[in-house]
Amino acid sequence: MFMGVFLFGLLFKIGSAQILHRELDIPQDDAIGSLTKLGSTLLGHFLGPIQGDYNEICRIVTIGIAGSEIKVGFRPHSTCTYCCKLVSPHRRIGLYLHRRNNTVLKLDMVRKRGYLKANGVNSTITTVLYIHGFTEYATGVSARIVCDAYLSRKIDYNVLALDWSPLAVFPWYSAAANNTRVVSRVLAKFLKFYDATGELKLENVHALGFSLGSHIAAFASRKLKGRMGRITALDPAFPEFPLDNDPSQMLSKRDASYVDVIHTDGGGYGFPWSIGHSDFYPNGGRLIQPGCEPSQLAEEGNILSILLCGHFHAWRFYAESVRNPTAFPATKCGILKNGRLRSCAFTIHGYMGFAANKSVVGNFYLSTRNKYPYSKSTESQMFEKGTVRLIL
Ligand SMILES: *[C@@H]1O[C@H](CO)[C@@H](O)[C@H](O)[C@H]1NC(C)=O
Ligand SMILES: *[C@@H]1O[C@H](CO)[C@@H](O)[C@H](O)[C@H]1NC(C)=O
Ligand SMILES: *[C@@H]1O[C@H](CO)[C@@H](O)[C@H](O)[C@H]1NC(C)=O
Ligand SMILES: *[C@@H]1O[C@H](CO)[C@@H](O)[C@H](O)[C@H]1NC(C)=O
Repeated sequence: MFMGVFLFGLLFKIGSAQILHRELDIPQDDAIGSLTKLGSTLLGHFLGPIQGDYNEICRIVTIGIAGSEIKVGFRPHSTCTYCCKLVSPHRRIGLYLHRRNNTVLKLDMVRKRGYLKANGVNSTITTVLYIHGFTEYATGVSARIVCDAYLSRKIDYNVLALDWSPLAVFPWYSAAANNTRVVSRVLAKFLKFYDATGELKLENVHALGFSLGSHIAAFASRKLKGRMGRITALDPAFPEFPLDNDPSQMLSKRDASYVDVIHTDGGGYGFPWSIGHSDFYPNGGRLIQPGCEPSQLAEEGNILSILLCGHFHAWRFYAESVRNPTAFPATKCGILKNGRLRSCAFTIHGYMGFAANKSVVGNFYLSTRNKYPYSKSTESQMFEKGTVRLIL
């Protein structure tokens, strides 16, 4: 039953996706967030404080589901009455250094002069910091795909992935959303310390957050006075974040020198409107992304991949752009102010992903193929007519 609420949210999502498809209209309300909040409140009434074997109840297990692995807990780890208590959160968070020889080194969130240097972090190069989303972990699929793409490049990067998996377990979305604040505090202290020791330069940090991870990057950078060089938000989480559209409560363009956003499930799990300096809307920025048609995925009998396919496309596209920086030419032409998508000649105004250029800001549109490689030639990028309402 404890998975019920989340699954209900997912099923609701399928329903709303179909409506979306028919009306081609992005809902302004956060339907999934309302459900997860309601579920969390209801559970608060049913579940009392933990009794019995605390360690057993608060254990986190990794389960294989739909060809992937997710972290699951019987209770959330957060501050609510029925939560497992979150003592010393910095001990539940880690940093994984992904290296060229295919090994991963786990670092602790400690503040010890010389620690990063001794472990091979080079202060003169760009530090890529990947931050996973709900139910994921730092050596999971999305982190590996993005980190491996960076390691395949000729020039060197410090490739790090933040692990906050114990605070992001399934099915406790509301707790995970709350925990983004806790995680960002730990991360900000860590980065501030090593910026001061000279083992890493904040200006050289490029944080890449997927879903809830985008908000962690933003909150952390905000505590560092927005000094982080770049934040790339990969379909930043929408459920429970619109919060009266108050920019202090979510990622915004004030959070780093450059904030670029890739929207792939706008109005569902991802933000439907522009919140960065450069906002990219591949295939309209919302469901249903090419290759994610329920009929197609149903054949694979994989419910999770149907529900999350569009959301996951954000890191799939990004990783491809790291390997091939000009894979995703994008144009500013395409969607008119009133939300009408029109057919127009494709002029390249920038590239989505790795090569996004901070001196060219605004909203960008492009289309992709329906499977890897997703890159589509400029010639075949004419937009189709239809209506897509996006808040610009
Ligand atoms: C991988 O590389 C790191 C340094 O980059 C080194 O310390 C480690 O021993 C290497 N591991 C293997 C198995 O080669
Ligand atoms: C740090 O990176 C620079 C640039 O790639 C390189 O020249 C230098 O040798 C590296 N330092 C260490 C300690 O690996
Ligand atoms: C999330 O935070 C809100 C506001 O502080 C709190 O009321 C709620 O109980 C928290 N939910 C969980 C699941 O931790
Ligand atoms: C970014 O865009 C500016 C202005 O169009 C251009 O001068 C610059 O060369 C571009 N930078 C890169 C890295 O493409």
